[in-house]
Amino acid sequence: MVAAGRRARDGRAELGGGESGSGGIDPRGAVRYPERPMGIIRKLDAALVNQIAAGEVIDRPASVVKELVENALDAGAHRVSVEIEAGGRNLIRVSDDGGGIAPDDLPLALAPHATSKIRSADDLFAVRTLGFRGEALASIAAISHLTLVSRVRGTPEGASLEVRGGACGAVQAAGAAEGTVAEVRNLFFNVPVRRGFLRSVSVEYAHIAETMTRFALAHPAVRFELRHDGKLEFALPPAEDPRPRIARFYGEDLAKALLVARAADPPFSFTAWIAPPAFTRPNLQGQYVFLGGRFIRDKSISHALREAYRELVMEGRHPVAFLYLDLPPSEVDVNVHPTKIEVRFRNGWRLHDRVVEVLRAELMRADLIPKIPVADRPPPPAFDPARVQGAIFDFFSRSGGVGAAATAPAPPSPSLPAAGSDPGPGGLPAPGSGPENPATPAVQAAVPPPRRWQVHGRYLVEELPDGIAVIDQHALHERVRLEAIRRQWERDAIVRQRLLVPAVVELTPRELARLEESRPALESFGIEWEDFGEHTVVVRTVPDFLRDEDPVRLLRDYLAQVAETTDRPEATGGSERAAAGLVDAILHFLACRSAVKAGESLAPAEIDALLAERDRLELAATCAHGRPVALKLTLSDLERYFKRT
Ligand SMILES: Nc1ncnc2c1ncn2[C@@H]1O[C@H](COP(=O)(O)OP(=O)(O)O)[C@@H](O)[C@H]1O
Ligand SMILES: [Mg+2]
Repeated sequence: MVAAGRRARDGRAELGGGESGSGGIDPRGAVRYPERPMGIIRKLDAALVNQIAAGEVIDRPASVVKELVENALDAGAHRVSVEIEAGGRNLIRVSDDGGGIAPDDLPLALAPHATSKIRSADDLFAVRTLGFRGEALASIAAISHLTLVSRVRGTPEGASLEVRGGACGAVQAAGAAEGTVAEVRNLFFNVPVRRGFLRSVSVEYAHIAETMTRFALAHPAVRFELRHDGKLEFALPPAEDPRPRIARFYGEDLAKALLVARAADPPFSFTAWIAPPAFTRPNLQGQYVFLGGRFIRDKSISHALREAYRELVMEGRHPVAFLYLDLPPSEVDVNVHPTKIEVRFRNGWRLHDRVVEVLRAELMRADLIPKIPVADRPPPPAFDPARVQGAIFDFFSRSGGVGAAATAPAPPSPSLPAAGSDPGPGGLPAPGSGPENPATPAVQAAVPPPRRWQVHGRYLVEELPDGIAVIDQHALHERVRLEAIRRQWERDAIVRQRLLVPAVVELTPRELARLEESRPALESFGIEWEDFGEHTVVVRTVPDFLRDEDPVRLLRDYLAQVAETTDRPEATGGSERAAAGLVDAILHFLACRSAVKAGESLAPAEIDALLAERDRLELAATCAHGRPVALKLTLSDLERYFKRT
């Protein structure tokens, strides 16, 4: 470094001339070193050290809110109230009813590396509080005007202390309620650069609101209030679980539809509040992970959430989920990031797999077929087979027969969580239920075998005991094929078809390389080829179920749709996971290729077979790509639509 710096300077000295030899930065950005490189290292004064440290944890008003609210929660507060002005630029005041700070401790609370939360290195690995570094108040004090007013619970009088940019005043007796009020004014008054980086009031407020949302979701038992420029933004009463708060932030419909998945076996216990796949978002902002009351971000957990909903949500959409991890301190290290938003898990992948398993099981259990959204759904009328028959008859005769039924005004897309949508219980018959279910003998007696029709060469319409379902034939068949191919593949039972005329495919070097990477996986699915010259391969076998496909197109489409879109093994560390990802991608590709297409007409027996397959499936609510398979209209939906009720 020094040598390079010298060289740079020497080189420039010739150009610029008159080199003085004093330190600094030359106009081209190279560091210039003094002639006498002795005596240039000095200790920074405490105020500057604190300012630098503050840079790490306090980058905007929302970070101040985070640190102060954490302190309130660590002090055992039942009520935390936050007031801000001008997006936090002018004022941030956090009041709590926690344990308080004794007058003699006030100066210490503001000193760097002073904390009441840990004492020894051992404690560091068993942290149960949100804070422990003893840095926040010192940092905030270094870059703002900070006032602490506090009264220890059960003592007659409180005390206050003021600090301005690190300069500490004297502790003074003060009348105060039990608990602590921390007031921060003029944030960054002595750090003009940071002040310059502050965004508009609304952006800074949005960050604060998000910070408060995380606390509110993480600590449902604590009352939270937020005021901005005198306006009460929210006041959340204490609750037993997060559901009311989720309702407040994400809407009643979503909160009502939430599924709860729990794991109770140590060391990985957790509770997840997860929304059915009908409630997705275009970004990850509906996903919250908490660890011991702390909001965290973790790639492997995000991945686990994605995995749990695999094939249930469409590409580019993200499920809404709130995961509360409760791990023993020995399983995580929280001391890896100054703001502690990232942590390190001892058994990250085991936790990942457990999360996938438990959430997936809950999603499988739930009935996920979306129903048409209808405003103000009244309680469903008691089931009356005769009325059902009448209504279905009416439905089809009014709209002029089956064909016309499908051209009736299209209902809103069931994949969009429209207001009032209710993806709750009730849907296509699950295995062992439905009209044949012996638990409903009355229905069985009155309802003839279900009737179904193909319409427009692409949809199946099915009569159900309590309504009708419209099914996307390709989506359903693709799902059926996926499970069938998966089962065959797992038993290594995929039948290969040797091509009578081997197919010659010319490929670019890049395509060849990607094909070669997939060779073991593709061979396990019955697609085999030989290299033939520099850029040509000859396909010898294909899976029997694709024997009528053009093998050249098959390979080309594989390359375009799968090989180019899956992770390269080396990009993901050559792991088994990458291999599993590829197998999955191939499964989906083959399922899609071998499924009936829209526009293919199906004989009644084929329709019956397809629907019988569906009833055997675990997961028929979505196709392999996560698009919905069926839309259900209940009789009460129909009656309301036709204004019969
Ligand atoms: N709202 C509060 N109620 C009670 N004690 C507090 C409060 N805020 C800060 N303290 C005390 O001040 C100390 C220093 O706080 P801080 O600088 O945030 O460091 P840390 O939270 O990491 O300990 C805490 O350890 C705690 O003892
Ligand atoms: Mg703290």
